[in-house]
Amino acid sequence: MTTEAIISTRDLSYSYPGGIAALSGVYLDILPGEFVAIIGSNGSGKTTLVKQFNGLLKPSQGHVIVDGLDTRTTRVSELSRIVGFVFQNPDHQTFAYSVWEEASFGLKLQRLDEESIERQTTDALRAVALDGLRDRHPRALSRGQRQRLATASILALETPVLVLDEPTTGQDSLSRRQIMELTVDLHGEGRTVIMVTHDMSLVAEYASRVIVMQDGQVVCDSQPKEVFEREEIMKSSGIELPPVIRIARGLREYGFSDTPLTQEELVENLITAIRR
Ligand SMILES: Nc1ncnc2c1ncn2[C@@H]1O[C@H](COP(=O)(O)OP(=O)(O)OP(=O)(O)O)[C@@H](O)[C@H]1O
Ligand SMILES: [Mg+2]
Repeated sequence: MTTEAIISTRDLSYSYPGGIAALSGVYLDILPGEFVAIIGSNGSGKTTLVKQFNGLLKPSQGHVIVDGLDTRTTRVSELSRIVGFVFQNPDHQTFAYSVWEEASFGLKLQRLDEESIERQTTDALRAVALDGLRDRHPRALSRGQRQRLATASILALETPVLVLDEPTTGQDSLSRRQIMELTVDLHGEGRTVIMVTHDMSLVAEYASRVIVMQDGQVVCDSQPKEVFEREEIMKSSGIELPPVIRIARGLREYGFSDTPLTQEELVENLITAIRR
């Protein structure tokens, strides 16, 4: 095992009871402080993979080591102190009577002092624009609000590793930006971020590493530019490139051959090209 990795998988395979192999032979080392995006088509195994990271699912074969702990022999409650997990379906998480209760629940389990609970919960709710609804029942929230509440509950925990499974799906652009800004802040504080997403603009803008899943296997693991340049893998995974890259590709016949990751980079490249 690589000692410095915060999460390692070795020959990780997983089959759901009575099902086909959802993961097969996955080897990964995720280092502290990385911002990893996991992408791939529907059913490629992304959610199954990240559920292994906090022991919600245990390997059928192979091992997952989280901060030195083998997930097969470590309780989920212990792993949850290291890996905070935002579910893809927010309705799986909601059981509290108020937004505040839900968002602060994990912190109470961690037995933090009242002042820290108050501060961390307020910060997290504010970050997802739910601080005005702290007394509302979670069931009275819209689906998008419930997704943000699920995000806030985990963000409040301030675990060293954050796993976000499609945190921005179904969110309007303001909420999407708020969730990403908070995630970027937490990453800036040194946290490891692992984000499953279908949003390639987010991948291009934020990820330092991209893992592409296909049929339960890792088919590509590299930096965003390199991944987006693997045209065959992008095609076979049904991944639509971010708009900035598609624009750049549309300009290929004019001698434009870069893979810009942000709007700023695209504009810069355009200006350079025009000047030439
Ligand atoms: N609870 C389950 N029981 C049986 N099979 C499952 C279960 N959950 C997922 N699967 C199967 O495991 C495979 C991987 O599914 P998974 O949910 O990990 O994919 P995903 O990449 O997260 O997809 P999506 O982008 O749609 O969220 C699929 O073939 C799926 O049908
Ligand atoms: Mg999924």
